[in-house]
Amino acid sequence: MKTIAIVARKGGTGKTTLAVNLGVAAFLNKKQVALIDLDPQGSLSSWGDSREDESPAVVSAQASRLTHILEAAEKNNADISIIDTAANAESTALAAIRCADLILIPTRPAIFDLRAIQDTADLVKMAHKSAFVVLNAVPPQGNLGDEAQTGISEQDIEVCPWRLTQRIAFVHAVTAGLSVQEYEPTGKAALEIKNLYRWVLKQLK
Ligand SMILES: Nc1ncnc2c1ncn2[C@@H]1O[C@H](COP(=O)(O)OP(=O)(O)OP(=O)(O)O)[C@@H](O)[C@H]1O
Ligand SMILES: [Mg+2]
Repeated sequence: MKTIAIVARKGGTGKTTLAVNLGVAAFLNKKQVALIDLDPQGSLSSWGDSREDESPAVVSAQASRLTHILEAAEKNNADISIIDTAANAESTALAAIRCADLILIPTRPAIFDLRAIQDTADLVKMAHKSAFVVLNAVPPQGNLGDEAQTGISEQDIEVCPWRLTQRIAFVHAVTAGLSVQEYEPTGKAALEIKNLYRWVLKQLK
């Protein structure tokens, strides 16, 4: 089983959005998926509750039980587990980072979000791991995405080559208990997630 941790010290950067959409992408790719919600806000669990489909499985957990939950997922033949974490919860993020084969740090391309990346990157370094920043909610027009990418690279942090654009489909899909691939299979958001998922799979090999 491979484990992906989604962490960001800043709130609202797209952690849960990424967990939901990558989780369903893996599920549509015939993988057994466990989505683990470490955020007491429970956004990922609420998404799971509002979903008609029972898969992917969503488990709400405390960081202290993470190892146990991951062992249980593996015993249940999970191929991929994806951990969604809370903002501003250093010990929870660290627990997820320690268990992860791949660490993703979603960020919006805004100056305050970019400054906050360094804090998350420091946490990753404390665990002697490496991570990729995923630019999220990039405006479809203008060059904010490119500017952000250059800024992050200068901080010596790796950036995922695929970005997610600011699209209303991401909001509507989560509200409906779906992923963008289920909500609008031929839409641009779905294509972005497909590309991101394919890249994720390569990193996990
Ligand atoms: N690419 C996107 N396009 C449009 N809206 C987005 C996008 N990504 C996220 N959002 C919206 O931004 C808000 C915050 O996203 P999300 O809940 O995924 O962030 P988060 O990092 O999990 O937040 P928190 O720190 O509160 O857990 C949500 O309303 C979500 O629908
Ligand atoms: Mg969240």
